[in-house]
Amino acid sequence: MKELKLIGKRITLRPLKSSDVKDIYLNIQNKKIAENILDMPWPYSIRDAQKFIKKMQKARQKKSDFAFGIESKTRKEVIGCIGLYKINFKHKNGELGYWLGPKYWNQGIMTEAGKLVLDFAFSKLKLHRVWGGAFSNNLASQKVLKNLGFKKEGVFRQAFWHFDCWRDGIHYGLLSKEFLKK
Ligand SMILES: CC(C)(COP(=O)(O)OP(=O)(O)OC[C@H]1O[C@@H](n2cnc3c(N)ncnc32)[C@H](O)[C@@H]1OP(=O)(O)O)[C@@H](O)C(=O)NCCC(=O)NCCS
Repeated sequence: MKELKLIGKRITLRPLKSSDVKDIYLNIQNKKIAENILDMPWPYSIRDAQKFIKKMQKARQKKSDFAFGIESKTRKEVIGCIGLYKINFKHKNGELGYWLGPKYWNQGIMTEAGKLVLDFAFSKLKLHRVWGGAFSNNLASQKVLKNLGFKKEGVFRQAFWHFDCWRDGIHYGLLSKEFLKK
């Protein structure tokens, strides 16, 4: 079967391989990443990276999640991950989630990756809606969602106990017609 690749200007998105373990492990070594993502282990070990890759490979076969490694075209390494998670084909929706190695923050890379994944979600998977959530203090992630055209839909006050404090979750959504008309 042909490997699924989404090709951007500076990055290529492709399914994760077992050989990506080291790149993921090295790029994820910053507590700010775990602080902003629910259920992400911290400290993050090589074993965690191996488990994540295996889990995502199985999920792709079941079509419940599509995780992509974000490969830098110049560095030829995986510098982060983005994916559509918890896909529900009955309701045609799924969640957008992502993280990037801190060295690459604030260069528009996740906005570029998000556009590629949303195009895949709406044009290839034919989803109707993609949603995303961020903690209220995660302004960078909320900016990425806004850059991609997501609309703020609500606030879940103190919905998550994460890193020893209550966190508000800000919920965003994007409909296929809103993305495709852009
Ligand atoms: C969130 C994350 C993926 C963003 O990736 P990125 O490649 O830096 O994102 P982009 O460069 O495309 O966009 C970031 C935007 O946020 C803005 N931003 C960054 N920090 C900010 C802050 N503290 N306050 C306000 N805006 C901020 C940037 O200026 C940029 O805005 P612009 O598009 O107008 O230039 C990255 O910071 C990350 O991995 N964070 C940790 C994990 C995480 O939060 N994952 C998401 C969980 S919901």
